[in-house]
Amino acid sequence: MTDEANNQPTPAPNDQPWQDLCALDDLPTKGGLYVEHGSRALAVFRVDGGVRVIDDHCPHAGQSLSSGALEREVIDPPNVCVICPWHGWAFRIDDGACPDNEQYRVAVHEAKVVDGRVLARVSDPR
Ligand code: FES
Repeated sequence: MTDEANNQPTPAPNDQPWQDLCALDDLPTKGGLYVEHGSRALAVFRVDGGVRVIDDHCPHAGQSLSSGALEREVIDPPNVCVICPWHGWAFRIDDGACPDNEQYRVAVHEAKVVDGRVLARVSDPR
């Protein structure tokens, strides 16, 4: 399912309030942006005309995923994956799963752009 207005997949709904994370203009055209929300480290990416917000912590050995590259077609077509820069594990940007081993995943947070700002509902806040 996709939120047509923001070209977003629709993560599992949660009742967390929308949080302002950054300006859309802060996001690089390639790669991600590291953002802290409370004690939570997040990675924000531009993808297909929208934004995606995932946990920044790689479940393998903890590398920052915001410094990873986005890949489509090669790893898990037609999905976009972020590639962890340490050991190359891939995580689908839309559901957080690792296509090679779906027991590993990162949390994906509902996100949208409003008036040039990136907002997210950060699930399970810490
Ligand atoms: S730390 Fe991410 S793949 Fe190893």
